[in-house]
Amino acid sequence: MNDIFETIKTIAFEIDHVIKAEDVGYSDSENSSGEDQLKLDVQSDLIIEKAFADVASVKALVSEEKEGVLELSPTGKYTVCYDPLDGSSLVDVNLSVGSIFGIYEGELEGKNLVASAYTVYGPRVELIIATRKGKPKVSRVIDGKFQEVFELTMNEKGIFNASGGTQQNWCDYHKTFIDDLFEEGYHLRYSGGMVPDLHQIMVKGGGIFSYPGTSDKPNGKLRQLFEVIPFALMYEQAGGQAINNKGMRLLELVPSHPHDTSPCFFGSNYEITALREAYGIKV
Ligand code: AHG
Repeated sequence: MNDIFETIKTIAFEIDHVIKAEDVGYSDSENSSGEDQLKLDVQSDLIIEKAFADVASVKALVSEEKEGVLELSPTGKYTVCYDPLDGSSLVDVNLSVGSIFGIYEGELEGKNLVASAYTVYGPRVELIIATRKGKPKVSRVIDGKFQEVFELTMNEKGIFNASGGTQQNWCDYHKTFIDDLFEEGYHLRYSGGMVPDLHQIMVKGGGIFSYPGTSDKPNGKLRQLFEVIPFALMYEQAGGQAINNKGMRLLELVPSHPHDTSPCFFGSNYEITALREAYGIKV
């Protein structure tokens, strides 16, 4: 898989460059979820497609920005599912954004995710890689090269609470759960970009990020293959947990369509235990 990780590093430099250099306006197209595409989404998607075109181990690509599967090397072992520029609507306000990659071997489902990676384009460019072994590793661009700086380890309990979705569409027990965390002293942290929001919770040791099912989006907003499952591996390998609203591990999800979404909760052990209680999930 090293060839894939090296390609992701090259991609990170290129996308960081276009974010800094290019127009952030809208393109003329919509993505497969019906959202208007920013020019940066389209450009980032093209950068990734081009970068993986000659990587022998990559059998196929599935992009959050496109419908369907793009077949590449017939002898390749892995399918890379990616969100080229998550949170791209935050670029115009100059908040951090990121790219997310899930590397699957076999059918596209949680149990076949062999590794995941995400890049953070912020004041620094960082790349985080998780495999099924060991803690996720954080590398940072130092002197023009990615250099490993630390490993992500979550504490049993954190202090941050990040909950997405429109509050008027939350169900009562979700609202109670969130309110109770604030009563307990949790700090609100929510930028509207899942990469920096989930990254912050892991780097600062713990807390919880939720994107619940809501009355307008019963299956949440975040996509299983490109967003939810790759971050589930990060959280579990860092010592935290990642579950859906029924208590199922997100790493056991089986999407029936590449763009399926899922309610999702990522956190340290204490907050996920509290969530199970609030949602009436039996262990
Ligand atoms: P987009 O890429 O359209 O900006 O969406 C960002 C995603 C994800 O990064 C973030 O966690 C979530 O949408 C925020 O959604 P809400 O505003 O509904 O909380």
